Amino acid sequence: MSQFTVAMLVASTRTGSINVRLAKAIEALAPETLSFNWVQMDDLPFYHGDLEGDRPAAVRRFVSEIEAADAVCIVTPEYNRSIPAVLKNAIDWGSKPGDRNVWRDKVVAMSGTSPGGIGTAVGQQHLRQILSILNAVVVPGEVYVTFKTPDMIDAAGNVADDSVRDFIAAFAKRFEALIRRMRD
Ligand SMILES: Cc1cc2nc3c(=O)[nH]c(=O)nc-3n(C[C@H](O)[C@H](O)[C@H](O)COP(=O)(O)O)c2cc1C
Repeated sequence: MSQFTVAMLVASTRTGSINVRLAKAIEALAPETLSFNWVQMDDLPFYHGDLEGDRPAAVRRFVSEIEAADAVCIVTPEYNRSIPAVLKNAIDWGSKPGDRNVWRDKVVAMSGTSPGGIGTAVGQQHLRQILSILNAVVVPGEVYVTFKTPDMIDAAGNVADDSVRDFIAAFAKRFEALIRRMRD
C-alpha cells in the first residue's frame, strides 16, 4: 500500500497550545499510510515583494517542504473569526509567483480547536475561502473541536473523550482516502 507524506502546519506555537495537542492527536490517530512532517511557519518574514528577487532561506525552506508533501494538514486557532497572521503569511509566500503556487492541486485538510462553542468554525470558513482562490483540493466537511475541559487532549495528544477520538480518527481516514484518490 502506498505511503504518503503530509506537511503539518500548526498556526500556534504557544506553550500549552490546544491546537498543538489536537495536531498531535490527528497524527496519532491517522492511518499508518500517512507520515507527518511538522513545518515551521513562525520564522518567515512578512511577505514583501522586494524580497522576491532573492527569497530568504526560511521562505525557500518552507516552499520546498510544501512542494515535497503529498498533502497538507492545517490545524489552526481562530483569531477574531479568521486565521492567525502567521498562517496567512505562510499561505501568501506559497502562493507566489502565481505560476509556482504550491497550493495548486494540493490536498489540504483543516481542523482547529478553541474553548468556544463553535470552536474555529468561522475561521475555517475563512481559510476555505483563501484556499479556493489558490486551487487547493480541500477536504470537505467541518472538523472543529470545542476544547471542553483543560485535559480533553493531553500534551502528548491522547484524547480523553471517546466520541472526540472517533471524530478525529474519522476525519483522518477521510483525509487519507482523498489523498489516495488524488495520488494513486
Ligand atoms: C488574538 C486572539 C483572537 C481570538 N479570537 C478568537 C475567536 O475569534 N474565536 C474563538 O473561538 N477563540 C478566539 N480566541 C481564543 C483562542 O481560541 C484561544 O486563545 C486558544 O487557546 C488559541 O489556540 P492555542 O491554544 O492553540 O494557541 C482568540 C485568541 C486570541 C489570542
